[in-house]
Amino acid sequence: MASIRDFIFISTLVGAAHAGFVSVECKTENVGQFGQQVMVDCVIQLKPEAADAEIKVVNWKKNGDDKPLLHFYRGEYQRSKERYSFAEPSWNNANMNVSLLIKDAAMEDEGAYTCTVVTNRGDGSVSTSLEIRAKYNRPTVTSTPERLTGDTDGVLTCTSEGGYPEGKLRWFDEHNAEWTKSAEMQAVKMKDGLFRLSSSLTLLRGSTFSKYTCMVYNHSGGKEEEFLFEINPHNDRHERGPEKEMNTPSKIVAPVVVIGSLIVGLLILLVVRRRRNRHEPVSTCEPLRAVERDHPDIICDVEKGGSEP
Ligand SMILES: *[C@@H]1O[C@H](CO)[C@@H](O)[C@H](O)[C@H]1NC(C)=O
Ligand SMILES: *[C@@H]1O[C@H](CO)[C@@H](O)[C@H](O)[C@H]1NC(C)=O
Repeated sequence: MASIRDFIFISTLVGAAHAGFVSVECKTENVGQFGQQVMVDCVIQLKPEAADAEIKVVNWKKNGDDKPLLHFYRGEYQRSKERYSFAEPSWNNANMNVSLLIKDAAMEDEGAYTCTVVTNRGDGSVSTSLEIRAKYNRPTVTSTPERLTGDTDGVLTCTSEGGYPEGKLRWFDEHNAEWTKSAEMQAVKMKDGLFRLSSSLTLLRGSTFSKYTCMVYNHSGGKEEEFLFEINPHNDRHERGPEKEMNTPSKIVAPVVVIGSLIVGLLILLVVRRRRNRHEPVSTCEPLRAVERDHPDIICDVEKGGSEP
């Protein structure tokens, strides 16, 4: 804490004495990839009058933070996290390249930074911004229902994540016609600050194409990755295959039904015989008409033979 107070004191003092000899200039656009080393590129510019300037203090701060990220004062370095360092491998106070290097960049690193420099010949301060970008993963497409034939309504859902800033998912059919307007997209920020995009495309039966491509585009409209989804691939062979399999059990079922009917018929025959033995009226055979119709050879012969004198 003492060092910061000293720094403010010194910068006020020196700044007042030597205004304009020293300035800090940064690359206007600092862009880094998520998870990689990123740099905020800044260099001290000295007027000829201050060419022999000696750096006393370098202070890197993220705007809005209280503590500096990286601080050099009286030959000593301090940093709030291991991830921060000077970009120049063996920086010393004769080196005018005061660029900040951030390892393993995260979304929290995006934003505005201020670099303040104090020399014995004046001081300078500049603000610059850092943008973090992350590429979206290759999308995946799933369908509901799982087996889409084109004869029923369905939904294709495309998902791609791990990108930043917010991108877009777009749909195309096999003729390259765009179907994005028929889809609904959601962008959700995940814990690490990266986006998860998902888009659902509704397919109506009868008006379904055989191939759909889901493409993920980055924030500035550059295409990144795609996924091709084929509806009902190998159409004929695959579609008829299972039907043939379905025929096999029905070949077993048919004889079972026939044999079953015969058994039922025989049982009914037994019942009728017993009833006849008990001298019950023949009219009880009325409910058997249906069976009679189906098995005239078994039932009717016996019935007729029994009821006719
Ligand atoms: C500052 O140093 C870094 C690391 O060596 C280098 O990549 C960068 O180009 C330098 N910046 C300037 C403006 O020279
Ligand atoms: C988007 O992609 C294009 C082309 O690949 C690339 O030039 C651009 O920098 C990317 N923009 C973002 C925001 O990632």
